[in-house]
Amino acid sequence: LKMLSISHLAAMKQAGEKISCLTAYDASFSALIDQAGIEVILVGDSLGMVIQGHNSTLPVSITDMIYHTRCVAAARRRAFVLADMPFASYATPQQALDNAAPLMQAGGAQMVKLEGAKIEVISFLVEQGIPVCGHLGLLPQSVNCIGGYKVQGREPLQAEKLLKDALAIEQAGAGLLILECIPAALAAQISQALTIPVIGIGAGADCDGQVLVLYDMLNISVGNRPRFSKNFLSSADSIEQAVLNYRQAVKSVEFPAAEHSY
Ligand code: KIV
Ligand code: NA
Repeated sequence: LKMLSISHLAAMKQAGEKISCLTAYDASFSALIDQAGIEVILVGDSLGMVIQGHNSTLPVSITDMIYHTRCVAAARRRAFVLADMPFASYATPQQALDNAAPLMQAGGAQMVKLEGAKIEVISFLVEQGIPVCGHLGLLPQSVNCIGGYKVQGREPLQAEKLLKDALAIEQAGAGLLILECIPAALAAQISQALTIPVIGIGAGADCDGQVLVLYDMLNISVGNRPRFSKNFLSSADSIEQAVLNYRQAVKSVEFPAAEHSY
């Protein structure tokens, strides 16, 4: 099995094949998800909530991210490994490089993800040979500025800015973009406007791929699951089958349905 690269993901978008992505934080789930044929494993800073038990992603450190990325990368054979840059680890291009480098060198990430339209940081990292995934819409690292986890881009001006930021992120050299918690119509428009693959979470069915937090779709997260998630374990007899069903539902565009979208 050949390890997937960013070119493979770009070709999937061109061919109209949906990209499936799940989060993982350890070797066992990494191997299971990999064997189910999921194309992208995201080592998300959501680990601050589902692994560490915090009520936001802010306490996660770069050391935590390197540790979990290494656990995931070591166990997968084929999937593309994407790792989050944690809160306040990419304020300047130099700081971003200092933190992204060990995430790739020691962690084994193939690409790093950062929240917001940090255009200068993105183009600098790409210049240094570090592939970048953008992240727009609901930005969990900015929860204290937003005042809660809510849908973004409902106002026309906000929507216009999101499209503009998405184009600027692509222009800066990003290879992927995550859209979180925005109206389905806006996510469809952005996915069409961009050449790079756009992966949605709570962003409707018309993105080029979908991502969910593993523990949400297995229904084992503590507390409330977001409306855009779905319990794939309830109709499966094993975790493997739940992940296979998720992959199939993404490919066939059965997930997300209207009830998971805005
Ligand atoms: O940390 C994470 O799991 C994420 C996804 C929700 C996109 O960033
Ligand atoms: Na994240």
